[in-house]
Amino acid sequence: MSPLDKNTGQDTGIVFRDLPLSIMRINERYDFDIYLQIRGHYRLFAAKGALFTDQHTKLLKDGSIRLYVKDEEWGRVEEYQTNYLSRILADPAVDSHDKASVAYTASMKSIREIFQSVEPRTIQDVEKNAEEMVRLILSEDEVMENLIWIESHDHFTYQHSVRVGIYATALTIKLFSSKLTKQEMAALSAGYFLHDIGMAQVPMKILEKSSPLTPSEWGLIRMHPMWGYDRPLETGHLTPEAAAIVLSHHERHDGSGYPFAREGDGIPTYAKICAIADTFESLTASRPYRESIRPFHALKIMQQEMAQEFDAEMFKAFILLLGPGG
Ligand SMILES: [Fe+2]
Ligand SMILES: [Fe+2]
Repeated sequence: MSPLDKNTGQDTGIVFRDLPLSIMRINERYDFDIYLQIRGHYRLFAAKGALFTDQHTKLLKDGSIRLYVKDEEWGRVEEYQTNYLSRILADPAVDSHDKASVAYTASMKSIREIFQSVEPRTIQDVEKNAEEMVRLILSEDEVMENLIWIESHDHFTYQHSVRVGIYATALTIKLFSSKLTKQEMAALSAGYFLHDIGMAQVPMKILEKSSPLTPSEWGLIRMHPMWGYDRPLETGHLTPEAAAIVLSHHERHDGSGYPFAREGDGIPTYAKICAIADTFESLTASRPYRESIRPFHALKIMQQEMAQEFDAEMFKAFILLLGPGG
């Protein structure tokens, strides 16, 4: 079960979420109640505000115990993880599974906030997260695997943004880490996380529609690269390369994309990376109206039916990235 999965307390109907265990520290106070599960019932393990002692951690040593927080207090866990993100991700005592979960949660929080309001503060938060994500992917091999397979239950637009951000960042690192500085990679990563920010202007009822869209609704959706390009640029954020990702992520190698139907090398390099990650995520994600396609099957569809839409070398690298042993 993923740390982001939700459980319902059998006796109370209260929804609980897994708390990544290795982020817990001795001599710290948390402002959320921490529970453990005994024979199917949730029991208070450490009350909010109480000192988390070595007695607590000793009990956790046997490895079979998991900790939980109430879903209604999850916002505080997110707050804690965001405040201490750099420290948690740099801590050798935190395992890569938990690091992936913390980085994912923090990205999800920043994406949710920026979709609610595009402003300098929310853009900066996404940029800060992108920086941490690049550092994390560069520092640990295992973390990538955990990031790719993480499960979550957030709104699909936010999940999509975060997953595309992760896949495209990883592919950029795989292809260009010797040519780019960490800062440049982080700036691009921010562009990937924000690639669909223009969707914030598309009415939710269109995004969530389960029946086929009308031509005019499609017309609105197809505006999102332009809308997304204008807004962060207005606030003076995003490098030109990152902004080009937002504007051109729906262009396709064979010229079948939009908004300008550019082809091949006429498409900015990093927008081509984003196109691959974007397509893969859209195929593998579950939506209210359809089941998700397994990753292997999605890659096969992309290879057999859509290969002309992608840069061949980049697509090959993407398959290697997701293949066994990353
Ligand atoms: Fe898009
Ligand atoms: Fe997208």
